[in-house]
Amino acid sequence: MNVLFVTAEAHPLMKTGGLADVCGSLPAALRALGHDVRLLMPAYPRACEQVADLAPAGRLTGPARLLRGTFPGTRMPVYLFDAPGSFDRAGNPYLGPDGRDWPDNAARFAALCRAAVAVGMGRAGLDWRPEVVHAHDWHTGLVPALLSRERRRPATVFTIHNLAYQGLFPREAFDALELPAALWSVDGLEFHGQLSFIKGGIAFADRVTTVSPTYAREICTPELGCGLDGLLRARGEDLVGILNGADYGVWDPSRDPLIERPYDPGTLEARADNKAALRDRLGLVDDPRLPLVASVGRLVEQKGVDLLVDALPLLMRRPVQLFVCGTGDRAFAKALEREAARHDGRLAVHVGYTEELAHATWAGADIFVMPSRFEPCGLTQLYSLRYGAVPVVRRTGGLADTVVDADPASLRAGRATGFTFATCTREALVQALDRAMACWRRPALWRKLVRAGMAQEFSWTRSARSYVALYEAIRPPAPVGRRAPWRARAMEGRARARLR
Ligand code: ADP
Ligand code: GLC
Repeated sequence: MNVLFVTAEAHPLMKTGGLADVCGSLPAALRALGHDVRLLMPAYPRACEQVADLAPAGRLTGPARLLRGTFPGTRMPVYLFDAPGSFDRAGNPYLGPDGRDWPDNAARFAALCRAAVAVGMGRAGLDWRPEVVHAHDWHTGLVPALLSRERRRPATVFTIHNLAYQGLFPREAFDALELPAALWSVDGLEFHGQLSFIKGGIAFADRVTTVSPTYAREICTPELGCGLDGLLRARGEDLVGILNGADYGVWDPSRDPLIERPYDPGTLEARADNKAALRDRLGLVDDPRLPLVASVGRLVEQKGVDLLVDALPLLMRRPVQLFVCGTGDRAFAKALEREAARHDGRLAVHVGYTEELAHATWAGADIFVMPSRFEPCGLTQLYSLRYGAVPVVRRTGGLADTVVDADPASLRAGRATGFTFATCTREALVQALDRAMACWRRPALWRKLVRAGMAQEFSWTRSARSYVALYEAIRPPAPVGRRAPWRARAMEGRARARLR
């Protein structure tokens, strides 16, 4: 099957979070199952530098063009969308140096979507055409919407990696983009008077997926539906949760070149060297009585960073060391740095995005903490499991689907892999960490827990098989006019009433 992935990020070409991990790994897993998967993403300077054999391919209307090359470390063709002035800027794909959205985000990502439609419809002058176009997150939401208006179109899948980011723009943006007028409706791209990119994916794709079964259920509720739960419920069986995998080619402590001393479940003692190296590097005191708790991730409310900051006074009264590594909200970064200065040697903070430090952290920390308010899937807990840094997580979304709480029964049965808590309070977080630290003081029990976590398999192959089954079910798509109109209007009306 020919499948085109459309995304704003794919590791290692561009990465700000897990979307890049997924789009950098899932295509390879699908290709390994025998499918011709190719990727379309923006021609960021950093991406162009890393793609081999880059050359112009096909033709698009206007000044934009497609470049074709080979995705690093694979034989997968990748198309880079090169629109002068749009993506050839330094830094973050979504935010300017001032930390605010680039003012032309609607135009930039709409242009990427139009390029995807051209490739999907065989109008880009390429010698290849996809049978399925698989679009990811709001940046590509217009792809299913625009394709839905075409005859003899490819089937479409839209994956929600995070419903909280919706690509909302004023009505004027809709006009400026010259989108088909029929798309401006409550059944279409309109969301409370604004243009919503993500609605284009949710309302028009043949299938909508998200990245864990629990999150798929949660986004159908008003609590986590971000105002779109009515529409999501209306999609019924067309919405499915497929758990992400981890790329164990990259995330494997037995052959990770980025860590001090490789190890496996049989040589866990080597973790002590990794812990010593990490402590040394972070300026944390070398005291064998202190477990090292770490957090790696975006410093945003989603990840419960505020809970962690609030919990610091309580935690610092306990015999423990803490390391927080992340970028994001400047207020959180400042609060953490302030606390770190007060607890020299016991609390370290690294504000920055450093891939190699993330590897070293999972190899050296005893406990990995992730108190997310919501979590579509989460990959960092999967990496921490594989590296034997026992996860302490809030029971939500993909965290609930991947970490088994260490209650007495699951511990005895060898099923436990971490510690989970339900309520979103600092007390609940500290209580879960206390349980973890008490267990850490019982080395035999702790080793059992660590080994059970390391043995978990969240492989991409399993997820890839689920995606293939989904692609097969919708190919070829039902002809225009025979598709069920989504009952969005009624459902969203109800959501609106609630908002008032
Ligand atoms: P999200 O996509 O919500 O940020 P995920 O857990 O799915 O969360 O993925 C986060 C990815 O970004 C992981 O690969 C993680 O290692 C990486 N990451 C996040 N913050 C940092 C950081 N400060 N330094 C290095 N890697 C980071
Ligand atoms: C999003 C989510 C995260 C998920 C990732 C990849 O960024 O926040 O939970 O793991 O996408 O799907």
